[in-house]
Amino acid sequence: FAFTPANLEWAKGQITKYPEGRQASAIIPLLWRAQEQEGWLSRPAIEHVATMLGMAYIRALEVATFYFMFQLAPVGKVAHIQICGTTSCMICGAEDLVAVCKELISATPHTLSADGKFSWEEVECLGACANAPMAQIGKDYYEDLTAEKLRDLIARFTRGEVPVPGPQNGRYASEPL
Ligand code: FES
Repeated sequence: FAFTPANLEWAKGQITKYPEGRQASAIIPLLWRAQEQEGWLSRPAIEHVATMLGMAYIRALEVATFYFMFQLAPVGKVAHIQICGTTSCMICGAEDLVAVCKELISATPHTLSADGKFSWEEVECLGACANAPMAQIGKDYYEDLTAEKLRDLIARFTRGEVPVPGPQNGRYASEPL
């Protein structure tokens, strides 16, 4: 792994934002850019970032494994689906959403669907508990889900559509923009 010239330039700019000796503070933006470049964080990518920041690989790996926003295995070409499994979502039916993912994508998390379009995992609270159960699909939140609605979303993504994010039952916490 190596950053593209443009990403390398950007990464160097990030590092200069921190005082001498504190370059490791740039770890999250650099890991994020590496993931944006490759779609997920491979070991060589994490090593590359660690080397740039003068950190041990294990320290960079600790950060990469702590946050759900970092993916340590290849993700679906169309979308990676993160089902919230924490209390509100669990009570409101997260298990049904996981069952849909197991049926339509793969029996185990962090595994690509047969066509390579999707992957999924269960994550902890994503902060949208009032609209449970919910999932992050790609970078957007889809809330007030049911198994049926998730099936429909996956079908629409498969057809190349980009469904409108937010509550999927017509309810809004505030007026839609
Ligand atoms: Fe699911 Fe908070 S419990 S978003």
